[in-house]
Amino acid sequence: MRYDSITDVIGNTPLVRISPAVHGLKNIDLYAKLEMLNPFGSVKDRAAWNMTRGGLATAMERGDSIVELSSGNTAKALAVIAGLHGLPFKSVTNRMKVPEIKDLLLLLGAEIEELPGQTECLDPTNTDDPLTRIHRVLSESETGYLHTDQYYSALNTEAHIAGTGPEILRDLDGHAPDYFIACVGTAGSSTGVATVLRGHNPAIDVVGLVAHKSDFIPGIRNIDEVHEVGLFDPATYDTIESVSADEAIDGMLTLVRRCGMLAGPTGGGAYHGAVRHLRKVDAELTERRTAVFIVCDRVESYMSYVRKRRPELLNQPPRQNSVAGLAPAELTAATVIDVESAQKWIAEDHPLVIDLRGPFAYAALHIEGSINIVDELFDELLHGGLPFGRSRPVLLACPVGEKSVRYAALLTRMGHPDVRSLSGGIIGWRDAGAPLVRD
Ligand SMILES: Cc1ncc(COP(=O)(O)O)c(C=O)c1O
Repeated sequence: MRYDSITDVIGNTPLVRISPAVHGLKNIDLYAKLEMLNPFGSVKDRAAWNMTRGGLATAMERGDSIVELSSGNTAKALAVIAGLHGLPFKSVTNRMKVPEIKDLLLLLGAEIEELPGQTECLDPTNTDDPLTRIHRVLSESETGYLHTDQYYSALNTEAHIAGTGPEILRDLDGHAPDYFIACVGTAGSSTGVATVLRGHNPAIDVVGLVAHKSDFIPGIRNIDEVHEVGLFDPATYDTIESVSADEAIDGMLTLVRRCGMLAGPTGGGAYHGAVRHLRKVDAELTERRTAVFIVCDRVESYMSYVRKRRPELLNQPPRQNSVAGLAPAELTAATVIDVESAQKWIAEDHPLVIDLRGPFAYAALHIEGSINIVDELFDELLHGGLPFGRSRPVLLACPVGEKSVRYAALLTRMGHPDVRSLSGGIIGWRDAGAPLVRD
């Protein structure tokens, strides 16, 4: 195969059957659409190319930069495309959570701008999320940027209407599958593919997969976050189901160890979600059925993600004092305190107030006298044991009170006698009109 440009290599990815000896389904042929084999490594190559190709000539003429709100695969593909055309690329994000991808973006020459998101609560007098504000500015014309706008641009979905969907039909001899399962990030791939497949088979069962609420799976959103995405339409999916980080890693292990597919966590999540969903119907079927799921990207970028969540897989000792190991009963038993009681407690007993948000949000506004230890660092500190004495009570605050309650439960398990989590977090504190100070 010979090509004039690496961008011509995007698409036409293989559809590979998973052995029934692995998935155990009796009446369903399960296929993986291997989007990880796109040249820059993921399903986002298609969207990135489709969102930029029309604007590149003008951008090169004007010397514009390509810009996108992404810290993952879209940024990676855009950084490559920008480099191919001699343009700068800037990735705006509210937190780079996967260190390998951050390093790769820097290696590719990307500029990274990290901003706190809405839940980080930058400034209570300004209800605009900084990312929303940036989005608005970038949507204006003549900004010096080619803004690809992956969460809103129809070109994202259209990449899959033109490419991914028709390729699946072609490889199944013109027949749409009976089931289609995909993880949802911007919703571009699942919406585009579902549109094409449903056009051929209105009875298709489309399953959208999101991350469990308290779990982070790089590249996809949880059920609350997905509703903030411009391209997301619940009517696209017959069911929306969630997968946990552990399930995604288990699915990934099956793909990498048993199927020869070096998939990342969302590919694993899609496999796990597909088999779980299909098992419910498999036994009742009287005719053979076909199902397709998407493998979005490759495993190599997620070694630190795996090391943190499943160290035993990399021959590391189990992580001591980890929130991942908390039992539901420990979480419910954690002490939560409302804003009014917290204010009184601070005034009377002077607990150590630990703010778990990012340093940017903390610097902008925080509870007076609190100290800032960003959650990832706090997590690390706790592995070594209690980082402070037991005699002083502790109040933990995070953006909305979800993370702090987990750390309160963990500190309690570690023997701290009086640790409480601020209900509703700094946003709740702000909304109650309680005072915040600026550095
Ligand atoms: C690893 C990974 N999986 C899944 C997705 C979801 O794809 P989409 O944005 O088309 O919903 C993304 C999107 O960035 C991703 O990076």
